[in-house]
Amino acid sequence: MEKTQQFIQDNKQRFLDELFELLRIPSISADPTHKGDVQKAADNVKHHLESAGADNVEVCSTAGHPIVYAEKIVDPSLPTVLVYGHYDVQPADPVDLWDTPAFEPVIRKTEVHPEGAIFARGACDDKGQMFMHVKALEAMMKSGEMPCNAKFMIEGEEEVGSENLEIFIKEHKEKLAADIILVSDTGILSKEHPSITTGLRGLSYVEVEVTGPNRDLHSGLYGGCVANPINVLSDMIGQLQDDKNRVTVPGFYENVEILSDEERKEMARAPFDEEKYKSAIDIPAVQGEDGYSTRERGSIRPTLDVNGMWGGYIGEGAKTVLPSKAYAKISMRLVPFQDPDEITQKFKTYFESIAPESVKVEVKPHHGAKPAVTPIDSAGYKAASKAMERSFGKKPAPLRSGGSIPIVALFEEVLGLKTVLMGFGLDTDAIHSPNENYGLFNFYKGIETIPYFYKEFADLNQSK
Ligand code: BES
Ligand code: MN
Ligand code: MN
Repeated sequence: MEKTQQFIQDNKQRFLDELFELLRIPSISADPTHKGDVQKAADNVKHHLESAGADNVEVCSTAGHPIVYAEKIVDPSLPTVLVYGHYDVQPADPVDLWDTPAFEPVIRKTEVHPEGAIFARGACDDKGQMFMHVKALEAMMKSGEMPCNAKFMIEGEEEVGSENLEIFIKEHKEKLAADIILVSDTGILSKEHPSITTGLRGLSYVEVEVTGPNRDLHSGLYGGCVANPINVLSDMIGQLQDDKNRVTVPGFYENVEILSDEERKEMARAPFDEEKYKSAIDIPAVQGEDGYSTRERGSIRPTLDVNGMWGGYIGEGAKTVLPSKAYAKISMRLVPFQDPDEITQKFKTYFESIAPESVKVEVKPHHGAKPAVTPIDSAGYKAASKAMERSFGKKPAPLRSGGSIPIVALFEEVLGLKTVLMGFGLDTDAIHSPNENYGLFNFYKGIETIPYFYKEFADLNQSK
């Protein structure tokens, strides 16, 4: 793959300029006012896939945001890699906390990235990482070194639950036929310690509404006599975890996979610096379920977190009011073999049961995701491991992650395909946060590694 690697070195600046164009499009899938921008981003991805040399490039419309599909079949007898990624991004809020505007990408040096990092919403999640695949394809194509076939499926609804992608893959099984799915939408341990993600958590997401009196009341006239929905909601949320930080929803842990001591020991071998972890996010101490390490709490254990909570008066100054309503958004991260629908139901039953008589409670389920684990003895994992070893000069460690990618479990269920999660991000990239960034090191390392993956995967399949 020498010519391919040389092509990458010779075109680094252009790759970056092109990524910047894509990053300037505010393709926020959750916000209907940005529908046109999401479409624009899809068109941009289509354009780049075409100029990289892909065939049959289409922007496929769905009931929601479009899916970009492309393929390059060099020889039907060769194996096929199906690349999945997403061009939609999270909202930039809170916008005031960005040092530079979210959709005006810039390069800045940081402690982690003395050579520079790209600052923009989507720089890492997932425009930057998805774009590495498009540029790797271009490099292989223009160098005449395409070792196997490739298909691309780049969606615009990952950040809102991938519901239309689920329909798309069910309707296009034939078109999506492949040997492996390759995704760069996760991270590595550090620039010195590459890793491959072998597990993703699932998700159950609910919104709760607590209603007290039929209107906001004077907190002097009524305070003490009428249930205050915010007080009640806070109390109910407090009851969702016990003093060992275990979730109290009955049956919550019923199907949770128990890892052997050996597996836990193996996991603990991956380098992790708790002091650095704390200082990077400015916390004096970590907190979590008794009996588990920070790494374990964030990967192999299920959790419950309030993501947002509101109600009453939150404007300037004081307004004495006893609110009529209180709301919260709650996420539960799930592990094998918890089922998101079952967990949502269990939550609903429990939450309604702990409501005092003085209020009404409503639980509304949002999107969910099934947890996923990927094997380390598959041809795909082996190819990724060899590819990363070549580019980083060090063998990557298998590692489970705490995040969710809703479609991964469905790839296996619907298409019968294993996924390789070969991401290049870092925990410090601030994905979903203000000042999201992606190291230039990581961006280029990804582009360099992907062609090796294709080569290794083709070789492994031929020797079968
Ligand atoms: N790329 C992330 C997930 C991720 C990040 C996994 C880092 C592992 C390491 C993805 O875009 C994401 O944010 N997923 C959402 C789920 C979705 C249903 C909103 C998540 O995990 O909150
Ligand atoms: Mn992502
Ligand atoms: Mn995301």
